Amino acid sequence: MTTPSSPQRITIAQLQQHKKGGKKPPLVCLTAATYPIAHIIDPHCDVILVGDSLGMTLYGMDSTHHVTIDMMSAHGQAVMRASTHACVIIDMPASSCQSTPQHCLNDAQRLLHETHACAVKIEGGAEATETIALLCAHHIPVMGHIGLMPQYVSHPQDYRVQGRNASEEKKIIDDAIAVEKAGAFAVVIESCFEHIAHHVTERLTIPTIGIGASYHCDGQILVTEDMIGLYRAFSPQFVRHYAQISDSIDQAVRQYAHDVRHRQFPEKKHCYDRNAPPHPKT
Ligand code: KIV
Repeated sequence: MTTPSSPQRITIAQLQQHKKGGKKPPLVCLTAATYPIAHIIDPHCDVILVGDSLGMTLYGMDSTHHVTIDMMSAHGQAVMRASTHACVIIDMPASSCQSTPQHCLNDAQRLLHETHACAVKIEGGAEATETIALLCAHHIPVMGHIGLMPQYVSHPQDYRVQGRNASEEKKIIDDAIAVEKAGAFAVVIESCFEHIAHHVTERLTIPTIGIGASYHCDGQILVTEDMIGLYRAFSPQFVRHYAQISDSIDQAVRQYAHDVRHRQFPEKKHCYDRNAPPHPKT
């Protein structure tokens, strides 16, 4: 959408425009929850999602169900401190999405006030439309999330591809149409059969962002910890591993432990000598 050196933050209006006026390269989206990761990925991304998957990838929880609004606010603020380019979107946690529309509105207003992020994401199809419409009526841009919805998964075996029969397929299509009608500016489609995501992408006028969905989607998103090999508790088929960062960390820490135990670290140059001239970076 813009070059990595672009100084301006991508806007919701630009994301909406993306689908209009002929085919464009897909939107590049990734998750971030911390300052250092956001700082690295920001120049390359159109969208950074502060996803509630951070409950699993950062906190080691076994689902996203117990992520709190305080956690999303703190991580949203860290990401915004690092980002100047991408459109930053924050996930509303399950406690907000599955509460009343008014409660969710209060939480969304608080999150945007504290983080200054550009928009929020709400997990839920037809069941979330009242909430989405209320937030949009209060000028809060909302991204939808349909297909596999981790906030509603109660057993690990239910993390599986969606649309396995005609009624599931119809639900995904109906959810997509409902979310668009409620006012969402874009929608994430997670883990569903390719032909369904393709069909939804052609049917909607808002951009679709796929994760385990279709190469026809208007954008693609992955959880950064998955694609760099930092979170290995669970690896869905749809992840491509672009790096194995945990191997590099393991190697570095193994070497550090060896050096400390064998008194090879610190060396003289890492220590302060009161007779030496001051080091330029001290
Ligand atoms: O929480 C998250 O990281 C997400 C992505 C999987 C889209 O919702």
